[in-house]
Amino acid sequence: MWKASELKLFCLYIVPTVLLCVAASETEQIMELIESMVLYSGAVRILTQAQITEDMISSANDLLNHWAKNRALLWSKSAMTFKAHENLHLPKQVLLHGPLSTHSAFAGESAIGKLGENITCHNATVSVKQIAERMDLLRSSTVWLDKYGHPKLKAHFKFNDDVVQIERRIVQPHETITQFLSSCISNYSFVGEITVNGFSICPFQTNDATNCYIAVKEETGFTAVKVMAVVKTFTDELLFCGYSLELLPYSDLMKGDGILAANNYAYQYCCYIDKESFQENKFILCNVKTFLSKYVLIDASNFYFF
Ligand SMILES: *[C@@H]1O[C@H](CO)[C@@H](O)[C@H](O)[C@H]1NC(C)=O
Ligand SMILES: *[C@@H]1O[C@H](CO)[C@@H](O)[C@H](O)[C@H]1NC(C)=O
Ligand SMILES: *[C@@H]1O[C@H](CO)[C@@H](O)[C@H](O)[C@H]1NC(C)=O
Repeated sequence: MWKASELKLFCLYIVPTVLLCVAASETEQIMELIESMVLYSGAVRILTQAQITEDMISSANDLLNHWAKNRALLWSKSAMTFKAHENLHLPKQVLLHGPLSTHSAFAGESAIGKLGENITCHNATVSVKQIAERMDLLRSSTVWLDKYGHPKLKAHFKFNDDVVQIERRIVQPHETITQFLSSCISNYSFVGEITVNGFSICPFQTNDATNCYIAVKEETGFTAVKVMAVVKTFTDELLFCGYSLELLPYSDLMKGDGILAANNYAYQYCCYIDKESFQENKFILCNVKTFLSKYVLIDASNFYFF
């Protein structure tokens, strides 16, 4: 992180200011080198803006291609590294994931470190094979364990590491909830509180007092759920029980003439709906491992954007 901050300071701020000043008093050759850095800095500056249009991506792409083309001439062949080449893919990444400032390369770097753990023989042919075989083995055993593993076995493999059950007085849930649960599962008990990925979820278990709004993973994406109860089945599986909510993705507000179009830092799972249309649709029962994030419900009568 420290190194990244230094590079950011250099690339986005020092190059287009200090270096540009220095360039005036330098030789032609050094000036060309500085110009190359300024071109790169300009492309990165465009790709880190909060709002980026297709034209901007195309300009950044042109700048980067021009920069790469001259790089071998200016900085010698040894500057044509893989890292230098990777920069040409930045515009594409921005198209896929948004402005550079909103995503991180560190997850990828940490993944490379993890992959490295799979290598015990430093020979290109052999190590690639080792990575492939070991990842494949890991994946198929994880899939098997997830599908057929008994919860106690899973616990042994730290499968449920991010879910912690907390002893807490349990309020008797509303009748509609017990009725629904009895129709789905034969043998269960209620859990007072759990934490998932560090988020505490403690359903109030009455029909109107809960403040547990969460996002859970579904096959087609995600859905918002008002959690009414956390239940444990007789095989020790933990489930959320609640109402699914029909909401609109926040990102809708950032499209075209949406009210947030000029302010497009959308959070991935944020949702909204007109108060009149807020509905608890149908009961839903899902594994706590489908948990994605916890919501805060904000009930606002007016929105002002500046
Ligand atoms: C291989 O890589 C995976 C994924 O990061 C890791 O969890 C696993 O422990 C590694 N396997 C070996 C044998 O190092
Ligand atoms: C790497 O492993 C392959 C396959 O076992 C072998 O043919 C090759 O000679 C090895 N290369 C080196 C440099 O040891
Ligand atoms: C339900 O679970 C309890 C305790 O785990 C057990 O004693 C009982 O036999 C189970 N009942 C059914 C119908 O599975």
